[in-house]
Amino acid sequence: MAELRIRTMTPKNFLSLVVSISLSTAAMAQKSTPIVINTDQLTAKVQPTMWGVFFEDINLGGDGGLYAEMVKNRSFEFTTPLMGWSVKGSKLSEGDVLVLNRGKESPNNPRFLRVNVKNATAKGDVTLTNEGFRGMGIKKGLSYQFSLMYRQAARGIKIHADLLDEQGNSIGSTVLTPSLTGDTWHKADIKFTATEGAQKGKLQLWMEGNGRIDLDMISLFPGDTWKGRAGGLRADMVQMLADMKPGFVRFPGGCIVEGRDLANRYQWKKTIGPIEDRETIINRWNTEFKHRATPDYFQSFGLGFFEYFQMAEDIGAEPLPIINCGMACQYNTAELVPMDELGAYVQDALDLIEFANGDVNTTWGKKRAEMGHPAPFHLKMMGVGNENWGPQYLERLAVFTKAIKAKYPDFKIVNSSGTDPNGARFDLLNTALRQSKADLIDEHYYREPEWFLSNASRYDSYDRNGSKVFAGEYAAQSKGTSSPLTQNNWKSAMAEAAFMTGLERNAGVVNMASYAPLFANVEGWQWTPDMIWVDNLHIYGTPNYYVQKLYSLNKGTDVVSITRDGQPLAGKDSLYASAVIDQKAGQLIVKIVNAANKVQQQDIKLNGTKKPAGAGKLYAMADNDVNAVNNFEKTRNVAPAEEKFSAKGRDLKLSLKPYSFTVIRLPLK
Ligand code: AHR
Repeated sequence: MAELRIRTMTPKNFLSLVVSISLSTAAMAQKSTPIVINTDQLTAKVQPTMWGVFFEDINLGGDGGLYAEMVKNRSFEFTTPLMGWSVKGSKLSEGDVLVLNRGKESPNNPRFLRVNVKNATAKGDVTLTNEGFRGMGIKKGLSYQFSLMYRQAARGIKIHADLLDEQGNSIGSTVLTPSLTGDTWHKADIKFTATEGAQKGKLQLWMEGNGRIDLDMISLFPGDTWKGRAGGLRADMVQMLADMKPGFVRFPGGCIVEGRDLANRYQWKKTIGPIEDRETIINRWNTEFKHRATPDYFQSFGLGFFEYFQMAEDIGAEPLPIINCGMACQYNTAELVPMDELGAYVQDALDLIEFANGDVNTTWGKKRAEMGHPAPFHLKMMGVGNENWGPQYLERLAVFTKAIKAKYPDFKIVNSSGTDPNGARFDLLNTALRQSKADLIDEHYYREPEWFLSNASRYDSYDRNGSKVFAGEYAAQSKGTSSPLTQNNWKSAMAEAAFMTGLERNAGVVNMASYAPLFANVEGWQWTPDMIWVDNLHIYGTPNYYVQKLYSLNKGTDVVSITRDGQPLAGKDSLYASAVIDQKAGQLIVKIVNAANKVQQQDIKLNGTKKPAGAGKLYAMADNDVNAVNNFEKTRNVAPAEEKFSAKGRDLKLSLKPYSFTVIRLPLK
């Protein structure tokens, strides 16, 4: 119950009462002119691809994240071969556990572990323990799939697998008895259930018996992967993406496409086929930021191009692979492949299209079918280069474009405009790419929130008939780009929401957009801000995630005119607005940001042949504290609240909360 307070009127507070009455009277008198939406004026089509997601294996987003493998360094291919493992045992002597290299026989996966076991009878005699990716998240009652590859001359060893909790107690165990012998490698696996849960568990193997055994690909997967696929993806992470119904999935990056040097570039052909043949390499984010060095960050490629295509298909999104253009990261080595050696890179691009779409009788289509997907993935577009720039980029891009268009004339190519949305590098590329009638130009913006607010009209003046824009990477930076202090706070998300009204209003120019980066592990990140944060068991979406989701779920099919005083609303009175119609659903969708620290009463008048027909919905995100964030404890601290909403005839009466983003859906007839 509200407390009733009676205060004596002093001259001072009387004066403030008078001032506040006259201010509110003035505010009422100054009520702004209505916004006008004309539902007959369709200004552009919204492409089905408009709002998508950008995935890169950064911040333990892939290995240690989306890829559900729980064992770190399962094949001993990290630079330090036993990183992540601890080898102990009272019955072990010097030389009983060796890292061997069978490079000739298996060049992509050369190392394995040789273990000599002598009269081992108990836990503690010979143990190998894996720490996982910042521990292993173990769920009580869940089934786990333990597997490995082995080679032994004779039978004689049993391998016990124990899940350990933080105190070292066993919380689930099984025994695997390698039964086959000889010179060849065999696979073995077994399922078992966790009896308790742990946030930071471990996997401990202990040996019983006598003999010598070679081990490789020691693996543990939870039984609750996305779609229950063995060796699959973390379901909660894919679900967050599926919930957004994204128009596309861009993969595998980002700078990871470029590599620190060309040897470190992303090579899709090395990421398909049996996982034991996919070569593990260092992740470029391992060493990128000294202040966030991650020495245990490698790419196992268990999540490879087949899995990316499959995930995109699962969630109804168009696949958008980005391919190396013959240039390594220009912030790092800036290595260039000579023009007369570019052919192999171009062939990789052509083969990728065949891998995705080719008939099962083609070389690469057959490989896709062998991996379990005879039907094509219907790939329609590809990016050539990530953040590459300069005449060297244009020279290489031209070769790719010619070859791809010669074979696949309707295939769309995404072109890089470099690292920044302005400046000499951008101008050089943007001018040249527009002259060459590029299909799509990828623009990146990592800027302060104020930049996003003041660029809400960036595309109002772009040529409607020229190359289309892919806003391929963007995120408002609360404390500066690459600063570890930057947060996914409400100020950044609200600024993005405001900027996105400009993308939507200009959907005739901007055909695709994606926030970046997508995922981060709270303990293993290199780059912040990120859209979705995880630990080994939990997940939460940032305010930025909910902004993206609101746009994506309310995409509509056609942009309609929305103006105040005849002008687009792109910052005047701190208001930003766009509107679309969803022709299939027969609904009008209005998006409005109030970036001011006060309530704004704003009427909207609907013109056009169609009228509001019945109740709709209003989704509002708002917080008086622009520094508010979400976290594991308060996963929806800043998230949309839903309520019913009705128009009064052709009028919409809105009371826009301070610092708010509002989406309205109204049926029309
Ligand atoms: O999103 C993080 C990085 O930012 C991407 O890898 C790169 O393209 C950009 O510089």
